[in-house]
Amino acid sequence: MLRAGRMSYSTYLRPRRLRMTLPLPLALLILFSGIALAHPSQTAELSSGQQKLARITVVPWPADIQAGAGQLPITQSFSISLTGYSDARLERAGERFLRNLSRQTGIPLKEYSPNAASAVLVVHTDRASLPVQDMDEDESYTLDVTSSGAKLNAPNPLGILHGFETFLQLVQATPDGFAAPAVHIEDKPRFPWRGLSMDVSRHFISFEALKRNIDGLAAVKMNVLHLHLSDDQGFRVESKVFPKLQELGSDGLYYTQTQIRELIEYARDRGIRIVPEFDMPGHSTSWFVGYPELGSAPGPYSIERRWGIFDPVMDPTRDETYKFLDKFIGEMTALFPDRYFHIGGDEVNGKQWDANAGIQEFMRAHDLKDDAALQQYFTVRVQKIVSKHHKFMIGWDEILGPGMPKDIVIQSWRGQDSLAAAAQQGYRGLLSSGYYLDGMWHASQHYAVDPMSNADAKLTSDQQKLILGGEACMWAEFASEENIDSRLWPRTAAIAERLWSPQRVQDVDSMYRRIDALSWRLEFLGLTHRSSYTAMLGRLAGTDNMAPLRLLGDLLEPASLHTREQAAIKAGEIETSETPLNRMVDAIPPESESARDFSATVNAFVASKFTDATAESILRNTFASWQQNDGQLRVRIEGNSLLRELAPISRNLALLGASGLQALNYIDNKEPAPDGWKAAQLVIINQAQAPQADVLLGVAPSVEALVQASANDPSAYGASH
Ligand code: ACM
Repeated sequence: MLRAGRMSYSTYLRPRRLRMTLPLPLALLILFSGIALAHPSQTAELSSGQQKLARITVVPWPADIQAGAGQLPITQSFSISLTGYSDARLERAGERFLRNLSRQTGIPLKEYSPNAASAVLVVHTDRASLPVQDMDEDESYTLDVTSSGAKLNAPNPLGILHGFETFLQLVQATPDGFAAPAVHIEDKPRFPWRGLSMDVSRHFISFEALKRNIDGLAAVKMNVLHLHLSDDQGFRVESKVFPKLQELGSDGLYYTQTQIRELIEYARDRGIRIVPEFDMPGHSTSWFVGYPELGSAPGPYSIERRWGIFDPVMDPTRDETYKFLDKFIGEMTALFPDRYFHIGGDEVNGKQWDANAGIQEFMRAHDLKDDAALQQYFTVRVQKIVSKHHKFMIGWDEILGPGMPKDIVIQSWRGQDSLAAAAQQGYRGLLSSGYYLDGMWHASQHYAVDPMSNADAKLTSDQQKLILGGEACMWAEFASEENIDSRLWPRTAAIAERLWSPQRVQDVDSMYRRIDALSWRLEFLGLTHRSSYTAMLGRLAGTDNMAPLRLLGDLLEPASLHTREQAAIKAGEIETSETPLNRMVDAIPPESESARDFSATVNAFVASKFTDATAESILRNTFASWQQNDGQLRVRIEGNSLLRELAPISRNLALLGASGLQALNYIDNKEPAPDGWKAAQLVIINQAQAPQADVLLGVAPSVEALVQASANDPSAYGASH
């Protein structure tokens, strides 16, 4: 069985690329001025300020940004000073800012300027922030950059942390060296809760990998890292009270309490809260390996290696269960200072409850009519324990039911409607439906999901205040230490922008341009979303000369989790936590940049009525390279078990190349392609679009668009080629 959430999620049909069809200047004008356009003539020219803003690659886009005159050069004499309130965290932030600026420019920079008047960037902080970061704190900042200096002001250090990130992203190579454009920015977030939920149970993600990804979250102004610390496949935190949890439930892969404290400090330094999740009463097999008495069947239990929804579930009828949870939650709430404590609560199948006569008797005696009512009984009791330890309880949709106080938070994996239903009853909520990164959606698809749309848009303004924001979710069935960064980045930046920037910021092309620029910056922060692809391709190729493999890999995208699981079941194989993640599907990023570029070129060529000679020449070269690549790759594929599954895909790419070249020939000859030819190409394209080896050829839809266009009457296009 599959986790139902992901199942319904992955049955979502991958739409064709959601491309912005507006001409670029029009799109930019809408983005940057926020005005509704009455007349196309208004699009004719962009002011110099708008042109300047169009070159800026800050993500998330600020709430308000105005272009100024000139730019601030970044040279070796760049310096900063901290004025107003200061503390050790701000000083570390200043040092880190200089280090990152130095890394991303390659310019060695000195430490602080002792004298505020002579510093290039003068930082001013009004007051301290809270000792334990809270979502109600002011995160705003203003940043002024002129040709002679810059000022960053904020009410408290959180705004300064965000302003530093904005400044780093303003810096670009220009004809006169590295510089930040002159701007005036007044920025603050749209939502107070902007997070990433990471499953570290199904595959353990090392302490170091968590740290570098916290750097990534800080770069895009996210403020919550939610760690899904226990599930059927592993219990990932050291408990001193119940040590068999990690000793028997983790294969030795867990965070010590010392590491957790260090991680919390590391995150706090970057304006990020850490919210722990311990999933209960289901998704809990790993607890029962050491403590079988918690389960609703006698056991013995072993760590689950497969993926899905499993039967083991806590016994809600025994007082000992709650005594255990009271001690455990007491220990963990002392370790994790955040005000919020996540108890999961999702996907209980109830089978162990149904099969246990004592539990059935308890349900009759307490008038609990079904498994959902029994789970609610459990959740109400756990909520009292969480509350006793001075925390607000948070959980997935399933926790909402009778008897819940209004201070809990619902995290919705089911959609805006369930969030709206909760808000109508006075409950706060977070959106995660639409932000599941393991669904392998494109950034544009996540970007289109807004916490305040659908049923949430119809809430009263008081109810809307209960929508706190959202969290991207990274479930780790097919994510490992090696590829976790590429599953997270840069797509998480698109979700971060949706949660930070004003709702009117919607331009998809602008978003892609800016997250592309973020990508290289993230590598300088130590993230590995690009470098791991190269390393994994090297292993696949068995050589450093991996150009043919890279050409193919660059055009592929992983199929969804559901497609991958179904393919394995069909092949009579079960993928588990012990399956190596070393195939092409594991190496490639979720979204192909090359396929996106290719699609833009096809669109430009078709939109030009086939007159854009540059686009045509790029397309011809591309199609020819696909044809040639197959022969070069075939030599490699033979005799390499990791590559063998790619042979039919490489062949399909060559066939797409042939279709594309023929389509261009018909277009050049101003001759509509015959119906029979078109039908034959569509068969080839269809075959190339089907997932194979758990990957998809991301370019197939654009080849189809070209084939369709070539079959039209050229006079309809007025082609003058
Ligand atoms: C979930 O996807 N079951 C939270």
